[in-house]
Amino acid sequence: MSLPIDVVVMAAGKGTRMKSSLPKVLHRLGGRALLAHVTDCAARLSARQIIVVTGHGAEQVEAACRQPDWQRFAEAGRPVPPDLKFARQEPQLGTGHAVQQALPQLLDDGVTLVLSGDVPLIEAATLQALLAESGGQRLALLTLRLPDPTGYGRIVRAGLEASAQVRAIVEQKDASEAQRAIDEIYSGIMALPTRLLRVWLERLDNHNAQAEFYLTDIVKFAVADGVAVVAHRISDAPQVAGVNSPSQLAALEREYQRRQAETLMAQGVRLADPARFDLRGTLHCGQDVEIDVNCVFDGAVTLGNGVRIGPNCVVANAVIDDGAVLAAFTHIDGEQLGVRVGAGARIGPFARLRPGAQLGAEVHIGNFVEIKNATLAPGAKANHLAYIGDATVGERVNYGAGSITANYDGANKHRTVIEADVHIGSNCVLVAPVTLGAGGTVGAGSVITGNTPAGALTVARGRQTSYANWARPLKKATR
Ligand code: UD1
Ligand code: CA
Repeated sequence: MSLPIDVVVMAAGKGTRMKSSLPKVLHRLGGRALLAHVTDCAARLSARQIIVVTGHGAEQVEAACRQPDWQRFAEAGRPVPPDLKFARQEPQLGTGHAVQQALPQLLDDGVTLVLSGDVPLIEAATLQALLAESGGQRLALLTLRLPDPTGYGRIVRAGLEASAQVRAIVEQKDASEAQRAIDEIYSGIMALPTRLLRVWLERLDNHNAQAEFYLTDIVKFAVADGVAVVAHRISDAPQVAGVNSPSQLAALEREYQRRQAETLMAQGVRLADPARFDLRGTLHCGQDVEIDVNCVFDGAVTLGNGVRIGPNCVVANAVIDDGAVLAAFTHIDGEQLGVRVGAGARIGPFARLRPGAQLGAEVHIGNFVEIKNATLAPGAKANHLAYIGDATVGERVNYGAGSITANYDGANKHRTVIEADVHIGSNCVLVAPVTLGAGGTVGAGSVITGNTPAGALTVARGRQTSYANWARPLKKATR
């Protein structure tokens, strides 16, 4: 039987060991808040509601959850996930107390799934399996065997065999010597019928080593009431690993990146080294994409068929069309406006594409060239040391080394229009607003302040003058 699912995400804890002013669940993994990974996963379960229990930094956490980009799952064209709801826990008196705060919003006809906001790598399939174990009737615990179980709640069973009945969860600080030897631990994740949860939460007390209301005490009540307790044991430890310190955060970041790299390679993407790959957003790749070492992808990035990315590139919020090549140390960030690199374009090394750079097919952008809010038509080239901002550049334009668009007059930005087949010499300044007529040529070193006619050679600089037999001044004798 499948009952409606209500998810409670515990996220009120302080995270003392992070030694940070930022609430723990807002620390980032793969460019997103830890808690966002958890709420995304919950959304994949088609939950009826997701209730986040907040406490430490509650306002900051709730505000972050309300940001439009919080739920990435919603953008993937899937069913819209439920809005996040909140329950405040103030002060924080333990995990049982945390779930108690969500109780008024929970409905008795459903199953409650309890998650932690600091356990980011949990997978929807694992939670589905746990929910199936609960079956709308049983208390299902997600467990794991660990070589070093120190610090975790231990799964106490009626006998030694692995299938023996679960009797209780005993916290590290309350455990006997014998119980501390148990290597099966409670992950912090459980699923159970809400009507039973409600009854059991009312019975909790804080008579234990930490004087906290332990959610884990409900296992004893289930056993006493004759309700079946099942342990769904997994072996993939990172899925239930929590983040308590910067060191654990870094370790999980690596694990997360390794998993993303494996997924991409399974799709055929060729990564030079999956250990030197970072994706902090979404990456969609066509066929035969090659990515060299130390690249960072951020935001939403799409790479077409046969795209090659050289080493040490940063690519964010961009679409790179088929066959384009980004050479080493290229930096692209489209931010809100996006960047588009046309098919067969060659970018870099050391190029910088900023928001609104729209490059057509076969465009060449070379070293130390910066493009911002500018459209370059197919075949345009700017190969060395240049700035093109707020401009429209026609087909096959050749833009010389050291030339810039002076697009800013100190108060306003103006546009530069360079029509098709124009050649701009080296070291020119194009003072916007200005239009350079099609097929024209601009001599090197020109400062262009007015429109230029099509087809003409325009030179705007001091004429070269030579003085024959020029005698340089001599140094005066001193005495
Ligand atoms: C808990 C479990 C333990 C399990 C471990 C797995 C209890 C009593 N113990 O222990 O059996 O092995 O998780 O990591 O449940 N939180 C609140 N409010 C509170 C206390 C905690 O929201 O008052 C949140 C924390 O922010 C965190 C989660 O609950 O997201 C777990 O809290 P934590 O203090 O890490 O629990 P542990 O003592 O580690
Ligand atoms: Ca913990």
